[in-house]
Amino acid sequence: MDETTPAVDIAAAQAEVDLPALGDRTRYDALMEVIRNRVTVRKFDSDHVVPDEHFDLILEAARHGPSGANAQPWQFIVVRDAEKKARMAEYFVAEQRFRAKAKMKFPTPDYRGLSTAPGFVVVCSDMRWVNAFPVFNDGSEKDKAYKENAERILLQSVAAATMSANLAAAALGYAVWWVTAIGQKDAQEAMRPLLGIPEEISVLDIILFDPPAAAPYKRWRRPLEEIRHWDTYNSEHFMSDADLDDWIKTRRHRVMYKDASNVD
Ligand SMILES: Cc1cc2nc3c(=O)[nH]c(=O)nc-3n(C[C@H](O)[C@H](O)[C@H](O)COP(=O)(O)O)c2cc1C
Repeated sequence: MDETTPAVDIAAAQAEVDLPALGDRTRYDALMEVIRNRVTVRKFDSDHVVPDEHFDLILEAARHGPSGANAQPWQFIVVRDAEKKARMAEYFVAEQRFRAKAKMKFPTPDYRGLSTAPGFVVVCSDMRWVNAFPVFNDGSEKDKAYKENAERILLQSVAAATMSANLAAAALGYAVWWVTAIGQKDAQEAMRPLLGIPEEISVLDIILFDPPAAAPYKRWRRPLEEIRHWDTYNSEHFMSDADLDDWIKTRRHRVMYKDASNVD
């Protein structure tokens, strides 16, 4: 392509941006309605058939996500094949068992719902995209530090698209499930042939969206006062190692699920 030819019609792209009047709450309120009601569910109505149109609507939202260098380093595999879903779920159930046996102490959820989830999208990226971000590529110590950050840029980019997709699914009335328990090397290797994924490509997460099998519940959120800092880091919100250990031991399982004894 001629370097001076823009890849997009700039005038048309700019014309698409339509911000509301500054401070007008209408669009904010509509967005918050979606954000507040996006909720994780791990058991779905497996009889539901997601129309292809819904996959497109949801991925259209992902497509508009922001990304470092506008690289858009994401690919989405819509899985409709029941056999493939079942095979993928097997891995997660095995992982669930492994964690229980290994006494990992993480309150791992029940992954069996994956096998029959109607809305099933595997989110992939190619880690070589880190080279599209600021790096030296000369093997130096400085390069290492920049590469580390480049990896974070890539992961944040894919997360931004995933979040847009999750919100779009919630806006269409679906409960969602964001699954990342797939990063380990053996999981990647098990999954790639199932979906014909090339070796260079990493599976970063799975977006599940479906009508919930039971009424969803809203999980605990930290109050705004606990997370907002004005101008300087408020040390009242700093947690020592002991505070964090204690939180993980005593609070984590209670905030992840409806109640401690009721793991989803
Ligand atoms: C980055 C990220 C990774 C997650 N990974 C998993 C996962 O591997 N398995 C799972 O069951 N839930 C996973 N979740 C879902 C969270 O457990 C859930 O969002 C959280 O408990 C808050 O509940 P809510 O989504 O209903 O607000 C993940 C969510 C995010 C944002």
